[in-house]
Amino acid sequence: MHYFITGGAGFIGSTLVDRLLGQSHTVTVYDNFSTGFHAFLDHAKLHPGFRLVVGDLLDRKALEAAMAGAEMVYHFSANADVRFGTERPDKDLQQNTVATFTVLEAMRATGIQRIAFSSTGSIYGEPSIFPTPEDAPFPVQTSLYGASKLACEGLIAAYCEGFGFQGVAFRFVSVLGERYTHGHIFDFCKRLLDNPATLHILGNGKQKKSYIYVQDCLDAMQFIETKAQPGFEVYNLGVDDYIEVNDSVRWITETMGLEPTLSYAGGERGWIGDSPFIYLDTTKIRSQGWSPKLTIRQGVERTIRWLLDNRWALEKR
Ligand SMILES: NC(=O)c1ccc[n+]([C@@H]2O[C@H](COP(=O)([O-])OP(=O)(O)OC[C@H]3O[C@@H](n4cnc5c(N)ncnc54)[C@H](O)[C@@H]3O)[C@@H](O)[C@H]2O)c1
Repeated sequence: MHYFITGGAGFIGSTLVDRLLGQSHTVTVYDNFSTGFHAFLDHAKLHPGFRLVVGDLLDRKALEAAMAGAEMVYHFSANADVRFGTERPDKDLQQNTVATFTVLEAMRATGIQRIAFSSTGSIYGEPSIFPTPEDAPFPVQTSLYGASKLACEGLIAAYCEGFGFQGVAFRFVSVLGERYTHGHIFDFCKRLLDNPATLHILGNGKQKKSYIYVQDCLDAMQFIETKAQPGFEVYNLGVDDYIEVNDSVRWITETMGLEPTLSYAGGERGWIGDSPFIYLDTTKIRSQGWSPKLTIRQGVERTIRWLLDNRWALEKR
């Protein structure tokens, strides 16, 4: 297969690139390096089946030219940070929703009909059912990021209906693992290296969150790729568990061998749009035969060890 990976220089996308090349596929990465890193593609660049196109998704002509000849799109490119939505309200709309529309139009122009989309558990806002299933009551949006991703899902579903595309949206909980370069564990690790004596935590530390290890996440996406039917499907991706932010603080400080004094900003949410409880029901994908291999704690520990061994990544952000 010839895969086209948007955001293929980022955390999750570059990890899939290495996998696909290892499986003898051809891969084109399209990325503007706004948050991605060339270092994540060092290994891929040695592979004859790899091609890198540096470009912006909003540049439709360049995107179409790069996409020609590919058979399936894995769409990872996005503004992947929930936290700063209210500071620049147009960013999620442009980088997520408009960019996804551009991807779909470029696919239509080049005759590609298959797309796997990296959506998010944030689209459930603050749900009332836990674990939250894919068919939870239609969610009220609490973040511009979640709203923009839900709009992307809507567009993909409409292209499946209108143009015969085959689309799968994967609603991830937070993803952890090697090459993790944003999120609260990254922030904690960076701040503890700067000042090992104290750690300030947004919210009350009791926010409940679920996580998935990046290789488990990609196992699931590739597993569904082999089964996908025409039309549009949605799958939650996560582990069957959740933790409190305070648990992650304990594991991080233990792994780093530190005993900082903790302080809390207070309140149930760390920022506007921070959901106090994220825990997704993954029965749908589990019933088809996928299950994650790593626990949340194992994922957190691997992430910290990678960050400590790759401090350049902490310094670049
Ligand atoms: N990491 C998580 O915990 C998580 C959780 C849920 C959903 N997701 C989704 O998964 C996807 C990948 O996340 P990630 O953590 O790998 O993010 P990332 O920031 O590491 O990767 C995103 C990549 O997209 C590229 N990019 C951004 N805007 C672009 C544009 N306009 N044109 C071309 N390239 C562009 C960046 O340079 C980067 O390489 C995102 O869509 C994100 O919303 C991530």
